[in-house]
Amino acid sequence: MLTDATSLHLEKVVPQAEDFLPLLGTDYVELYVGNAKQAAHYYMSAWGFQPLAYRGLETGSRDSVSYVLEQDKIRLVLTSPLTPGGPINEHINRHGDGVKVIALWVDDAADAWKQTTQRGGESFMKPEVREDNDGRVVLSGIHTYGETVHIFVERKDYRGVFMPGFRRWEPGFRSATIGLRFVDHMVGNVGWNEMNKWVEFYAKVMGFAQIISFDDKDISTEYTALMSKVMSNGNGRIKFPINEPAEGRKKSQIEEYIDFYQGAGVQHIAVATDNIIETVTHLKNHGVEFLYVPDTYYDTVLDRVGKIDEDLAPLKELGILIDRDDEGYLLQLFTKPVLDRPTMFFEIIQRKGAKSFGKGNFKALFESIEREQEARGTL
Ligand code: FE2
Repeated sequence: MLTDATSLHLEKVVPQAEDFLPLLGTDYVELYVGNAKQAAHYYMSAWGFQPLAYRGLETGSRDSVSYVLEQDKIRLVLTSPLTPGGPINEHINRHGDGVKVIALWVDDAADAWKQTTQRGGESFMKPEVREDNDGRVVLSGIHTYGETVHIFVERKDYRGVFMPGFRRWEPGFRSATIGLRFVDHMVGNVGWNEMNKWVEFYAKVMGFAQIISFDDKDISTEYTALMSKVMSNGNGRIKFPINEPAEGRKKSQIEEYIDFYQGAGVQHIAVATDNIIETVTHLKNHGVEFLYVPDTYYDTVLDRVGKIDEDLAPLKELGILIDRDDEGYLLQLFTKPVLDRPTMFFEIIQRKGAKSFGKGNFKALFESIEREQEARGTL
């Protein structure tokens, strides 16, 4: 049984005496993909991303190509290998397309690396200065769950389009933006009994605090279950929920992800919009597929969440979910996996005061995911 949304274990972020890792925001999210050129076209044509920067053969990069796309504060980097072998091919061979880098914007990348590695973070990249005529960027990085990494990006002395090594990308094609504003949160799926290990990593190595937890009693259906804890940095701009599978009668969606991704990785990227009806209408009209929400969800939803500003009809028409917590409500919707393996997907979210993550919707949602799993023969 699901408890109601007001019983959510929502804890205030406790401001720390000293935030040893001040994060200004998400700098970019980099996916390793099999065909970056076509992926870039998909994110531009269907998702309204704008072309920003390019690195490839023409800029002297002989072994990989990257396209940088942006929409308001969101930057996506899509990277493919140009030659056989090497770490990018190995990553794609093992995981399929997926998120390699969650880059975090900092004032001092050398200090971010020092603070986190001193606290037990495993180095991915020692502080490295990259310079061109537009100034300098300092990068450093540490490993997180699976083969995912955090790169710290210091760009206060840089005026260029993205970073040294890239040039402005101006393809003939450009689509309209669709109202996506910033990354609201990014969720990691980790293996059995690994959630607390990664919760501790974010607490100890990165100074994050736990703001919410769900156990398998909160998030379970007849068949599948999961547990989740949400970690947030000091100023609340970066939120990382961490999921692990829990025992159910059938295979958990988290377990399915771990099987197909061959380990821990980013499960979904939640992107914020100020007008979810317009944003989702555009996405659907451009072929983005969303999880199906049963019509019956809308028979009782207003009894659960109370009065909302929007008419229910368009929300029902688009399958947008609604949830409420002590501070307000939120509207959200989840895509089907955007890759061939049933791994990563997106969430579209519009917050109207609520700071939580839609717990009240989980049951309706998971039943929908299970219908999809059943069709794939993986339930
Ligand atoms: Fe989410």
